Amino acid sequence: MVFPRKGFFATSITIVTLAILAASCGAPAPRKAADKKGIIFGVSVKAGDVLTPDTVKHIKSHYNLIVPEDSMKWVNIHPKKDFWNWSDMDMMVDFAEKNGLKIKGHTFLWQDQNGPYVHSVKNRDEAIAILTEQITGVMTRYKGRVCEYDVANEVFNEDGSMRDTFWYRLIGPDFLDIAFRAAREADPQAKLLLVDYNTEFAGSAKADAMYELVKDMKERGIPIDGVGHQLHCPAEMNFDEEALRENVRRFHALGLFTSFTEVDVRIKMPVDGDDEERQNRIFSTLMNIAITEPGAGSMVLWGITDKTSWIPRAFPGYGSAHLFDKEMRPKPAYHALMKVLFGK
Ligand code: G3I
Repeated sequence: MVFPRKGFFATSITIVTLAILAASCGAPAPRKAADKKGIIFGVSVKAGDVLTPDTVKHIKSHYNLIVPEDSMKWVNIHPKKDFWNWSDMDMMVDFAEKNGLKIKGHTFLWQDQNGPYVHSVKNRDEAIAILTEQITGVMTRYKGRVCEYDVANEVFNEDGSMRDTFWYRLIGPDFLDIAFRAAREADPQAKLLLVDYNTEFAGSAKADAMYELVKDMKERGIPIDGVGHQLHCPAEMNFDEEALRENVRRFHALGLFTSFTEVDVRIKMPVDGDDEERQNRIFSTLMNIAITEPGAGSMVLWGITDKTSWIPRAFPGYGSAHLFDKEMRPKPAYHALMKVLFGK
């Protein structure tokens, strides 16, 4: 059992009290703190979240950006060749605008969550045609309203080679060039990201491959603005802060920003104090890097509470990965992160 440091409770209570006081005075505290620091503090939302009074209130006071967790994925927004299902995404974009939040889009080029018709495509020309149609269709509809897009997601294997997806097989090595060019053309103002997991620490094969590929894209004039590291972290991981900072800095030197796009920190159940302490450290270190590294500045949580978490489904035996429990009560990781956000 690890006990919090002396003064931890008093400091935490002070921070949370300040946050509650500020919120009750009409100043949405964590969100305001993020705005003041000039960083993005965001969260993924499901369609129901922007319809439910409790979550609406929570989102408005905590975050300055939302991202649809599933609603913009191909299978949901364009399930059939001749049918676009705009309703959830329209609702989220309206919600964001009404409440002064930014909204980002997730995601186009991915091997998962595509409609059956996508997988029936047989050759390069057809694949380019539907990919371009998807990107252009979504980005034209929300032109000037969605601030950035995860244009491509999870294109690498762990050893740094390209993942053998149907996009890569059908289109070939220029599949990313085509997707990013189509995205820039559809909405020149939107920031365009390449996103992956296990790419955060400079020196790993996958992180270095991402860097080399993006550097090459930049040198060839392909329109890419940033990279995203998903950061679905197991609490017991070896979290190498310096390697992450080094990675942020090398992309910054290329003129690209880094975003932490899908942050959660899962714990092997039942939760014990040591893992909870590691979880606190990972969440708060990421926030610290987002605040202090000029090339970073964006931390997006993947889900609000443990109640609707994707973690137990994907990682049996793990849970408690989010800042709020199933009753939406803040956990120690929330207080640890707030301490950094409020500059204590
Ligand atoms: O909505 C249906 C529901 O009607 C049905 O009863 C239920 C039965 O299983 O399924 C529900 O849909 C599920 C949906 O999550 C609901 O939240 C889908 O089956 C399920 O596949 C879907 O999982 C999503 C997953 O991506 C799909 O690959 C997760 O929510 C989402 O958090 C997860 O997010 C991905 C990122 O997009 C990319 N990076 C990894 C990350 C985690 O896998």
